[in-house]
Amino acid sequence: MTDISKPFLRALRGERIDPPPVWLMRQAGRYLPEYRAVREQAGGFLNLCYDPVKAAEVTLQPLRRFGFDAAILFSDILVIPHAMGQDVRFEAGEGPRLKPIRDAGGLAGLSLNGIHDSLDPIYGTVERVAEVLPDGTALIGFAGAPWTVATYMVEGCGSRDYPNAKGWALGDPDGFQELIDLLVQATSAYLIRQVEAGAEALQLFDTWAGVLPKHAFERFSAQPIIEIAKRVKAVHTHIPIIAFPRGAAIYLPELARAPEIDGIGIDYATDPDWAAREIQPYATVQGNFDPILLMAGGEELERRTRSIVNALSGGPHIFNLGHGILPKTPIEHVERLLKAVRG
Ligand code: CP3
Repeated sequence: MTDISKPFLRALRGERIDPPPVWLMRQAGRYLPEYRAVREQAGGFLNLCYDPVKAAEVTLQPLRRFGFDAAILFSDILVIPHAMGQDVRFEAGEGPRLKPIRDAGGLAGLSLNGIHDSLDPIYGTVERVAEVLPDGTALIGFAGAPWTVATYMVEGCGSRDYPNAKGWALGDPDGFQELIDLLVQATSAYLIRQVEAGAEALQLFDTWAGVLPKHAFERFSAQPIIEIAKRVKAVHTHIPIIAFPRGAAIYLPELARAPEIDGIGIDYATDPDWAAREIQPYATVQGNFDPILLMAGGEELERRTRSIVNALSGGPHIFNLGHGILPKTPIEHVERLLKAVRG
């Protein structure tokens, strides 16, 4: 059962909390030796995502070490294209590889029927974690936002400027919209089931939102995020939703004003003083310590932490990174960061 006295959930409902609740994007991962051990036993990365016992274990690992205010389901954004029938692999040391979809013919190979059969183990992970979650800690479910998931589906791998996905989106927007619409449907159904399994808040990761010009950001990043939030809230009215469109700072105030969006994640390049003025009046701000400084350490670590906490102390704030934690991050730096946040 959702306990609204949890600091993370209170902050998402608009309360100012001192010190702010804290969790870190990608808090489960390769910087932890206990993660690497489970990862090795699991074999392929997707096997780990689809093994509820192991995935629940790695979800809980960072909580045991650091006592974060929230756990985030351990999975990946690419389980959605996989569930829709696209070939998805993770090659060791290379990141994701998908069989690219470039046109209407490619779209015809995707299906929404039976996505839950493939996603079922992930709901199992959520259930397991929800059962043993420490008091006061919240459980976050997540998905990739349609634009970012589409970039991987169209390019077939990570890219610097997404020429094929962006070319399709800008050159044939109505054709590309069909892919986005499929992702809106699949992602909404997926998140509704995560809430039923025990997720208490949801985050949509739009990692590549920053490569889109304004009109395309509105159509292919902001609108699909809002549409998913509407569909999820039509079923689970009170579930708080955080949007994290990375690299899209100047477009964020508009998204923050959407009544369906409760929190906005800001990346490390966004000025927290600006976010306090332009975003915090409308949504809880989450962020935005630079993951590279967390890896580098030094006295700046404490100084920058205090400056972010101070800048956002006048409104609802969840302390986090401005992007995911890096695999080479020393564990002692994470401990120092938490001390600096909590005082
Ligand atoms: O935050 C968490 O702890 C939850 C787990 C989580 C993972 N991926 C686990 C993961 C979350 C929320 C994600 C989201 C994700 N996945 C995003 C959006 C957020 C972001 O970081 O930008 C994206 C773009 C992906 C796609 C993806 N998954 C890539 C590009 C890669 C390879 C890059 C890398 O770091 O190796 C992955 C693999 C992945 N997802 C790993 C983890 C822990 C590393 C795989 C391994 O253990 O070998």
